[in-house]
Amino acid sequence: MKKTIFSGIQPSGDLTLGNYIGALKQFGQFQEDYNCFYCIVDEHAITVPQDRLKLRQSIRNLAALYLAVGLDPEKSTLFIQSEVPAHAQAAWILQCNVYIGELERMTQFKDKSSGKAGVSAGLLTYPPLMAADILLYQTDLVPVGDDQKQHIELTRDLAERFNKKNADTDVFVVPEIYVPEQGARVMALQDPTRKMSKSDDNKKNAIFLLDPPNVITKKIKSAVTDSSGIVQFDKENKPGISNLLAIYSAMTGESIKDLEAKYEGKGYGDFKSDLAEVVVGELAPIQERYEHFLASPELDDILDQGAEKAARVANKTLKKMENTIGLGRKKR
Ligand code: AQP
Repeated sequence: MKKTIFSGIQPSGDLTLGNYIGALKQFGQFQEDYNCFYCIVDEHAITVPQDRLKLRQSIRNLAALYLAVGLDPEKSTLFIQSEVPAHAQAAWILQCNVYIGELERMTQFKDKSSGKAGVSAGLLTYPPLMAADILLYQTDLVPVGDDQKQHIELTRDLAERFNKKNADTDVFVVPEIYVPEQGARVMALQDPTRKMSKSDDNKKNAIFLLDPPNVITKKIKSAVTDSSGIVQFDKENKPGISNLLAIYSAMTGESIKDLEAKYEGKGYGDFKSDLAEVVVGELAPIQERYEHFLASPELDDILDQGAEKAARVANKTLKKMENTIGLGRKKR
């Protein structure tokens, strides 16, 4: 039997090259060998304030983008989190199995809440919702960027805890994490010590998947590097060029070592021009397909069918959870 993969992306803004390299790029390849569930996690997006109209639009845009990068609805299940209520229901049960201290230790919570007034409880309880997303599908493997590693570790702990505490037989498969070798953490172009994020206020920090070619080129050419001019991977001392090398390697599959050799004796200018060409070359056909799917009525049919298929699987696990802990009057 094929193993199961689950991955989700928040419709919290325009997707970046970080989201692409850390997650989307591999989706098309996985669906050949795995049973894949790809989710638009809109309930995660509302842990921070969102504009209603923009959120609706971002959900559609993200669905079109999933299809544009090569996701085949015949092979994978594409759906919207809020259209499968089992996610919120399972999240509540898992919230009752996680400790506040565990949630407060999450670096994403610390980063997103630090210095902010009026932080929502949802921002703190984001990880059990993410655990529910994953565990409902009896997921074997979760492909994510480095930034999500801590959340997956907590998901594993929660699955083991629930299995041990509540039942004679395991309710959940304990998922493994899959982090891509290169590009696990794509950094911001103007500040390569921070990760590239779609909600970054400085739009020059991120390459957006739908940026026009001239904008992509301009952003790469103005990316912060150092004054040595030597194309060499040294994250500590040369974070800017190291980030660009990692992006180049993740996009082409060429090793960092080979790239260093290729650009030996050449300056950053040549390297950046070539990288811009590589990125534009890969994103241009995706942008074309994106426009096609966005305008097509097919998109709603795919999402309707995806939600139905996902709900069938998710409800089975939810019932198992509820029966195990004794919710309701009788076995569901
Ligand atoms: N910079 C990154 N490098 C590598 N992978 C990344 N991912 C995100 N940023 C990078 C991966 O993209 C997937 C979807 O992420 P998400 O939208 O669920 O949330 P996120 O990790 O919080 O992404 P952003 O772009 O930083 O969104 P905002 O700004 O809204 O918080 C995940 O697999 C993630 O690892």
